[in-house]
Amino acid sequence: MSKQPDQQPSAKTANKKMWGGRFQQSTNELVEQFSESISFDARLYEHDIRGSIAHATMLAAVGVLTNEERDSIKSGLLNILADIQAGDFTWSTALEDVHMNIEARLTKDIGEAGKKLHTGRSRNDQVATDIRLYLRDRSDAQVELLNNLQTALLDLAEPEIETIMPGFTHLQVAQPISFAHHMLAWCEMLQRDKERVLSTRERINVMPLGSAALAGTSFPIDRSITCELLGFATPTRNSLDAVSDRDFAIEFASNGAILMMHLSRMCEEIILWMSEAYKFISIGDAYCTGSSIMPQKKNPDIAELVRGKCARVYGDLTTLLTLMKSQPLAYNRDNQEDKEPLFDVVDTLEIVLPVFTAMIPAIEVKRERMYQAALGGYATATDLAEYLVRKQIPFRDAHEIVGKVVNYAIENEQQLSDIALEKLQSFGPMIEQDVFAVLSLEGSIQSRDHFGGTAPKRVAEALRSMRESI
Ligand code: ARG
Repeated sequence: MSKQPDQQPSAKTANKKMWGGRFQQSTNELVEQFSESISFDARLYEHDIRGSIAHATMLAAVGVLTNEERDSIKSGLLNILADIQAGDFTWSTALEDVHMNIEARLTKDIGEAGKKLHTGRSRNDQVATDIRLYLRDRSDAQVELLNNLQTALLDLAEPEIETIMPGFTHLQVAQPISFAHHMLAWCEMLQRDKERVLSTRERINVMPLGSAALAGTSFPIDRSITCELLGFATPTRNSLDAVSDRDFAIEFASNGAILMMHLSRMCEEIILWMSEAYKFISIGDAYCTGSSIMPQKKNPDIAELVRGKCARVYGDLTTLLTLMKSQPLAYNRDNQEDKEPLFDVVDTLEIVLPVFTAMIPAIEVKRERMYQAALGGYATATDLAEYLVRKQIPFRDAHEIVGKVVNYAIENEQQLSDIALEKLQSFGPMIEQDVFAVLSLEGSIQSRDHFGGTAPKRVAEALRSMRESI
């Protein structure tokens, strides 16, 4: 079929692309809409500009650009940065993505030197570098947010070291614990979340720039210069891998998913504790909402929403994993799809963490209710069994004896500590007056006096060391 230039505007006259040299026809409008990423990758502008300035600086250092060209590129890019920050930059869909929008504007502003910026570089190593710079910043922000949340939890825990609540297994009353011990359990989960963020940050902090499209470049680049200018620990070792893999982004999202899973568990407990059935805590009005029909309602919506937001982060992680699956080396355009789920993880965490943290001081601990709840459910039965073991009864036999005592208590609607000594002795003749110290809630938690246990002294130590580690 012969070309019909009259019916199709030539690429030279309409809609000229930066990559359009070999193209005879302009891009189909639907294709342009379909393939643009500027509507979501514009947020990478700052990191894109930083990367470009470092690249130009390096090119001048190795003699590929003159110092004048470097200076002109640098000041041009800084002007663009200021314009974007001031809201004075018009993004164009026809220019596809953040990289080409900025480069096109640079050339418009400074002329010839702008056209040389892309020497020895491709959008493939450029975008991989941008995302890594971006995620490195977001990792640092996340560590800060996690520190704030842990501090809020420690502040809530500190006055409650001696506050006794029922500890649960299977959501059934199991053994008495210190409320602060429970808060410290949450802090431990968050501590690991933070360690994961920091560990992933090490793998993020590696520089793809210099890998160019996939095979590296024939220019005499010095990657150690760009690496140092951008604060990367080291350049990537393989150009194919560097432009193609997004495992670091998947890791970032995976850490986010695990963190959200932890927050959803905390929220579940907060929601239960605030219910009429538990009444372990109340939450200040500022962090609850009402019902449009039931005037009496005060709902823990913040906790419910945080629990719900966990779902979308799982979704984002699944999207990224699926996106990367089966991609052959090296860069494929599929990877443009990494940004929206990744940004969604960032945005979700960066609103969830501050809101959840702000809610913590609004929690009021209902000490008396927790204490009463711990009294029910025979929470010190294990203490009684352990008491018998100290009286030389083998643990299995002790378990059996205490089971019968509990049965008696249930039938007679008594607490274990209310049963008369003579009655207890009818189950186990070795039981003496000193048993009552063991049957009390206070005695129970005091006795768990080892590293990691719930004895108030140990909890106070754990709280101190957690504070120091933040
Ligand atoms: N917008 C693209 C992305 O996010 C930039 C890289 C495009 N590279 C290419 N060869 N088309 O992945």
